[in-house]
Amino acid sequence: MFHIHPPTCVILSLHTRSHAIQCGSNDNIAKLYAAITFAPAILVSTANAINATKLALGRRRDQIRVQSGTAAVAAAAKRSKLGMKPVALVTGANRGIGQEACKHLAKHGFTAILTSRDLAKGERVAAELQSAGLDIIYMPLDVTSAASIEQLAADVKAAFGRLDVLVNNAAVYLDEGVSVFDVPIDAFRVTFETNFYGPLLLCRAFMPLMIERHYGRIINVSSEYGSLAHMGGYTAAYKLSKTALNGLTRTLAAEARRFGDIKVNALCPGWVRTEMGGQHAPRSVQDPMADVLWLATLPADGPTGGFFRDKQPIPW
Ligand SMILES: NC(=O)c1ccc[n+]([C@@H]2O[C@H](COP(=O)([O-])OP(=O)(O)OC[C@H]3O[C@@H](n4cnc5c(N)ncnc54)[C@H](OP(=O)(O)O)[C@@H]3O)[C@@H](O)[C@H]2O)c1
Repeated sequence: MFHIHPPTCVILSLHTRSHAIQCGSNDNIAKLYAAITFAPAILVSTANAINATKLALGRRRDQIRVQSGTAAVAAAAKRSKLGMKPVALVTGANRGIGQEACKHLAKHGFTAILTSRDLAKGERVAAELQSAGLDIIYMPLDVTSAASIEQLAADVKAAFGRLDVLVNNAAVYLDEGVSVFDVPIDAFRVTFETNFYGPLLLCRAFMPLMIERHYGRIINVSSEYGSLAHMGGYTAAYKLSKTALNGLTRTLAAEARRFGDIKVNALCPGWVRTEMGGQHAPRSVQDPMADVLWLATLPADGPTGGFFRDKQPIPW
């Protein structure tokens, strides 16, 4: 629902953009866009801060006043703009290693942007973590959508004007144990879209923010399965997508050197108990967190273009 008070402002009080669409109110969305386009001021007042902000930010950034639901974003943005807090963004963070990485980074001085392709899941998890006192905000992201990545980069730039750490964590694992002869080619494509092209586009979208400040840390969450040195049969789509991600890590690290203190490393978390790793994995989601924090906070003379597990280099 929204109310128009021309000519002074538009009040966005819908819960979410998608919620409004679910209500069958395409007409309302059209009116909303029109109202945002023509209103001289926008007041955001919604339970779902980010989506309303996102809707509005792209259009009338200089005229937005943030209220209530957007307080978390506004407060986080203020802190980071005052130089008090670095900002980290984690992909695929509604569960598993990504969620733990957000928690860990927030506990260690970062404003963590928790992203998830599923809006409801992402908001729920972020709200739980916020209520536990963590400086975490939610922003939507489907890593297979170039438009979603571009929108996210615009939103982060508008809200924070910086990104210190990018954790490319989101991935799919669709062909466990399947022979390379049998993996449907579409499974290869989806796997590469998610595990390789997603990180590639994210690096390209966020490197400009890092280059502006001559600083950045990119962590590509990879897997020893992608190691050519250890390459075995089966699960080829997943393994080769991580091989490609490792290659991206090397080439990006080499190019990033000329822009200042920007480091790009690949991390193998080991075999971890998550939906992907299954319940019999020996490691917990906490186990790779020392590596995440280490790579996120590397000093200027720290490594770049490396592949690590437990802070030790592992073979490509
Ligand atoms: N667990 C292990 O043993 C292990 C071992 C080696 C490497 N890794 C790597 O560690 C990382 C995290 O794995 P995990 O074990 O935490 O996996 P997980 O529990 O399966 O979580 C994967 C995450 O990626 C998200 N995701 C998938 N496709 C996406 C898309 N198109 N856009 C945005 N998000 C998407 C999932 O979101 P949805 O909930 O929406 O599906 C989920 O949040 C991955 O890169 C994985 O390859 C894991």
